[in-house]
Amino acid sequence: MVAGLSLPRIVRVGRGAAEDLGDVVADLGLSRPLLVTDAFLVGTGAAERLTATLRRAGLHPRLFSGTVPDPTTDSLAAGLEALREHGADSVIGFGGGSPMDSAKALALLGVQGGHMRDYRAPRVNRGPALPVIAVPTTAGSGSEATQVTVITDSGTDEKMLCLGPAFLPLAAVVDADLTMSMPPRLTADTGIDALTHAVEAYVSRKANPFSDGLALAAVTTIGRHLRRAYADGSDAAAREAMMLAATQAGMAFSNSSVALVHGMSRPIGAHFHVAHGLSNAMLFPAVTAFSVHAAPGRYADCARALGAAAATDSDDAAAAALVDALRALCHDLDVPTPRAHGIDPDAWARLTPLMAEQALRSGSPANNPVVPTADQIRELYARVYA
Ligand SMILES: [Fe+2]
Repeated sequence: MVAGLSLPRIVRVGRGAAEDLGDVVADLGLSRPLLVTDAFLVGTGAAERLTATLRRAGLHPRLFSGTVPDPTTDSLAAGLEALREHGADSVIGFGGGSPMDSAKALALLGVQGGHMRDYRAPRVNRGPALPVIAVPTTAGSGSEATQVTVITDSGTDEKMLCLGPAFLPLAAVVDADLTMSMPPRLTADTGIDALTHAVEAYVSRKANPFSDGLALAAVTTIGRHLRRAYADGSDAAAREAMMLAATQAGMAFSNSSVALVHGMSRPIGAHFHVAHGLSNAMLFPAVTAFSVHAAPGRYADCARALGAAAATDSDDAAAAALVDALRALCHDLDVPTPRAHGIDPDAWARLTPLMAEQALRSGSPANNPVVPTADQIRELYARVYA
């Protein structure tokens, strides 16, 4: 089997790495970046500190802070205008998954035009696109290292998965200091997202030995540090470990794939505006329980890496222990069921057929160890509602 592997050309990892962002961009021969971020990071002063490092390196940045959580096709219009007005030669995505995903979409649309709907999976987008530099402020999406962006179609409320090297950042600057002020809920949601990336990359039908190593390393690290970071956000060692693991998990799934949890999670986020990591968490134990019988050895490896099973446990026992460990993790991180989260049962039931159809259309369920039917996906939605 030949695996095609894609990674950012440059990755700088470590506390304080963002101080050198200007040099990273200048070394790439770029001079007019559009810094794409959100109002929150402008309010904290973080965007200005980043802009200052760019100016110190002699660059001409422009700030665009109009990104929104779960970016929509409509939300990209103002960014595209800023990109053109500035004559940008590059795009810096600064923030959580949403600003980074917005930056990636702008980088492509700025060169090729059209509508993001034209670029959705299964199309593989090879470019051309402007170079993207990614600076994450959460330890979760892994978007800094992936060839994936997720944009919601404003017309249909569908979260569209868009793939291809055009969306792979040229450089990623991964600085855990930027995550120190994340509140506990965001720490939990983004951390579970990273764990989901790692486990799904490992059990995916597209897994390969390269993605496997990154995935298992991330699972181990997250198992040791996520509860710590959630309990005490000032635990710098835990923050740093989670940040590295999130990037590794991003590299893993970008070079393998995600699977059924993500396939089912995107429609929940789109229709009920549940944070991405939280909608993953609502599904993760039940979808894993549904899937383990088809790949007990792979799930068992994840269980052992997570610290949920011993090397001497049988694969079947270890895989079952993984399901229990995910339930315990969701409990400890105060993950609600969709019902407890306040989602209306009638709306959930009414939208379930559409969500199942959208999940399947994203292609992610086809990478799952058990490839589900639409009926099985509907049953899983009903089961997790609780
Ligand atoms: Fe994710």
